[in-house]
Amino acid sequence: MSKALVRDVAAQERPQLRAFVADEETRAVIGQVAGDLMITGAAIHNGTVRDAIEALGRQRSPRILIVDISASELPLSDIDELAEVCEPGVSVIAIGERNDVGLFRELVHHGITDYLVKPVTATLLQRALVQAVEGTAPHQRQSGRLGRIVAVLGARGGVGATMVATSLAWSIATGRHRRVVLFDLDLQFGSVALSLDLDPVNGLRDAVENPGRIDGLYLDRTLVRHSETLFVLGAEEPLDDVVRADRDAVGLLLQELQTKFHFVVVDLPRQVSVAAQQVLQSATNLVLVSDFSLAGMRDTMRIVQLMHALNVGCAVTVVVNKAGEYRAGEIPRGEFERGIGRSIDLVLPFDARRVCPAINSGRPVASAGGPVADLLRELADRICGNKVAARAGLLRRLLAGLR
Ligand SMILES: Nc1ncnc2c1ncn2[C@@H]1O[C@H](COP(=O)(O)OP(=O)(O)O)[C@@H](O)[C@H]1O
Ligand SMILES: [Mg+2]
Repeated sequence: MSKALVRDVAAQERPQLRAFVADEETRAVIGQVAGDLMITGAAIHNGTVRDAIEALGRQRSPRILIVDISASELPLSDIDELAEVCEPGVSVIAIGERNDVGLFRELVHHGITDYLVKPVTATLLQRALVQAVEGTAPHQRQSGRLGRIVAVLGARGGVGATMVATSLAWSIATGRHRRVVLFDLDLQFGSVALSLDLDPVNGLRDAVENPGRIDGLYLDRTLVRHSETLFVLGAEEPLDDVVRADRDAVGLLLQELQTKFHFVVVDLPRQVSVAAQQVLQSATNLVLVSDFSLAGMRDTMRIVQLMHALNVGCAVTVVVNKAGEYRAGEIPRGEFERGIGRSIDLVLPFDARRVCPAINSGRPVASAGGPVADLLRELADRICGNKVAARAGLLRRLLAGLR
């Protein structure tokens, strides 16, 4: 079986085609062309790009999405919002009423595969669909986006990095309904699966040791499902053996995960191995967890500096956890911030009463209530960038008001 075919089998649960179009005439043309091309399970809705954003924020994205932007006041910002909720690897065909080259260019720039002007003919639509399926569209960008890689690293052992990674992944998957994979890079001592009450399956080791091993189907068998939107990649390899993670294999694995998930959250072991370096180099975000100790301060500073050299584009969020555990022995926040040369983003208090029972019973701490849970959800909001979305919404209202 070819690799492409294997991928197709793995992608079967995703619908092939969905359309959100406001007029009957265009919907009829789409229905006819989908039938001619034998696209099974095409869903054609009476709606607009706004309805597509609403629906895809909750459901799996199709391979090809057709959206009607004729009624859009701000088509480009609608397309941006759509790209935000779409899974990676979706081809979007927009349909509108304006025959405007400038708009077409801008839409393509924002990740659209093709733009068709109403009235849409069967011939034009068929060509656009075939090109999107074959990946030969002139602007084949497949929504232009890959999933984001969020690395989580503890400046010291035991500071709560795994707890933060697990809760972050769970919060994004549950609170925002994004597809998230939580990847435990410590194949021997990792505790992500344990802390979510899941059994790791065999196969991850092979995938991180051998670059040739990875394809969609293989991955689907290695992923452990926690919920509809949260999946875990972990292992419990024997301790009398050495796992030799390969840089290229880890790079390829991350790339494959990015085409399937909105977010790849990686819980990194503390040793800076070649595999960990690969993750740090590919990461869009790094959540660096420390406590208020002297060693934590020193290593937070060193890791922040390392990131300047390794991956300047990576957004680093500094989280101090377990604040108040050793009151007298802790470094005051101001001094810690001067020491690391930047500010701390979030401080989570020590709360053994809520945190430990949650972990011991296989529940994410973010679901346990209390201040730590609230702050962990705030962390998820920061990583997802809800401030940006809120601003876009404000801009939309302001511009609408000016019309
Ligand atoms: N805010 C907190 N309050 C109390 N205990 C915590 C807190 N955060 C983490 N812990 C505890 O610390 C221990 C180590 O956490 P873990 O996430 O495994 O750390 P790391 O991955 O950095 O080694 C866990 O047993 C957990 O219950
Ligand atoms: Mg850990």
